[in-house]
Amino acid sequence: MPRVIHTVAEWRALRASHRAAGLTVGFVPTMGALHAGHASLFHAARRDCAVVLASVFVNPTQFDEPHDFEKYPRTLASDTALMGDAGVDVIFAPSVAEMYPNGTRYTVTESELSRELCGAHRPGHFSGMLTVVLKLLQMADADRAYFGEKDYQQLELVRGLGTAFFLPTEIVGCPTIRDPDGLALSSRNARLSSTERALAPQFHHALVTAPTPDDARAQLAAAGFAVDYIEDRPHRRIGAVRLGPTRLIDNVPR
Ligand code: PAF
Repeated sequence: MPRVIHTVAEWRALRASHRAAGLTVGFVPTMGALHAGHASLFHAARRDCAVVLASVFVNPTQFDEPHDFEKYPRTLASDTALMGDAGVDVIFAPSVAEMYPNGTRYTVTESELSRELCGAHRPGHFSGMLTVVLKLLQMADADRAYFGEKDYQQLELVRGLGTAFFLPTEIVGCPTIRDPDGLALSSRNARLSSTERALAPQFHHALVTAPTPDDARAQLAAAGFAVDYIEDRPHRRIGAVRLGPTRLIDNVPR
């Protein structure tokens, strides 16, 4: 089973011994509620690196709705079992005080991409995400860090963060894992009712098959989705929709 640690100091001591032994470290940041999509990131890190570190931290500053933070699933026992099976060596599960030693006095702001797409619908979300990712990358001091392409805007922003702050860790993007009917795996899928779950794959289908974003929006609205946005960006069609209270995001190459 992976070793579970809760403090930066514990990881720093382990990291020093890895460095002395010349071992490469792969890092996978998560908020827990793990599924096969996360497992694919752990497997990629396991394939590339001698030591695999994963973090489980439900980051309060990236939730734009407080009740979403409160009801976010905390499932460390089953997450630990999944990480053990996927070859994770060390789990970093810090408290909020450990991650925010001087509260939220210091934050990261990005002024362009973070305000578009999901950023236009979730004020503050990307600032919170970038802030905690910078903290986690600094803490982990890893050779490589792994992020899913399902959160495509997040991945692009994290790549930009690495460039802006000269971070030495290589950012590795990993393909989206889907259910056989096309729905991208997400911890939010568990919140869908059976009717919503039956409808949900139409989102991916529309992204892939609609000739234009307008056509995709019209198809999905007619099927009962509330569409936040669907846009074509260089090489990607990217979108976010709501089914009842559940927000789904996805993107496909184009
Ligand atoms: O993608 C996520 O789960 C989170 O945004 C991340 C990268 C772990 C930061 O909290």
